[in-house]
Amino acid sequence: MLTLVAPSILAADFSHLEAEIHRAEEAGADWLHLDIMDGHFVDNISFGPAVVATVRKHTPLPLDVHLMIEHADHYLPRFLEAGANSITVHVEPEAKHDVPKTLATIRAAGCGVGLTLNPATPFEAVAPYLSTIDLLLIMTVHPGFGGQAFRTEMMEKVRRAKQWRDANGGKLHIEVDGGIKPETAQVSIENGANILVAGTSIFRADDYAAAIRDLRGG
Ligand code: DX5
Ligand code: ZN
Repeated sequence: MLTLVAPSILAADFSHLEAEIHRAEEAGADWLHLDIMDGHFVDNISFGPAVVATVRKHTPLPLDVHLMIEHADHYLPRFLEAGANSITVHVEPEAKHDVPKTLATIRAAGCGVGLTLNPATPFEAVAPYLSTIDLLLIMTVHPGFGGQAFRTEMMEKVRRAKQWRDANGGKLHIEVDGGIKPETAQVSIENGANILVAGTSIFRADDYAAAIRDLRGG
């Protein structure tokens, strides 16, 4: 599968967000990853639907919305309205929503369906849902902050996801998120990931295009 790069705007310069979006797009970004944090499910607060709607106005790139929030089902209408192309929710009980019901609601809205799990959550937690989603996001850091170190032991989950994808039609997107730099991107691709989320390794680089090329291994 083609490797897609999804810059996480959490690491962008928010005082120049429109310019950052255009720079990432011109640099070859395939998607944009938008990290929504509520200060409850994760120990940080980022931004909400209003920022998603603002980003929507400035780019045609698919918006990959990662909900690190409690009660994602309650907020779905606002992120759908804001223009999300794919919405990823957490499987952990601490996310306080009915997982299959939330996934079905995202599907019914015609939006891409994503599910994700924290490093501490076993792969078994997402296994029952794989046939109902378009994208499995394997967190390679504990969610909440950019700039953390990649957790190599998460590659076991990427391999499990690849095995499932290879045995079930070959279409499931396998996305990794957290500490993705050229060397960890290559490890992730080798193990089966086809979407790379990167914040600091792109938005802290002088040359965004070179940073994205390096992630692809090109
Ligand atoms: C962390 C977010 C990640 C983060 C990635 O909770 O889900 O998307 O922004 O940041 P880097 O690439 O800097 O590790
Ligand atoms: Zn994310």
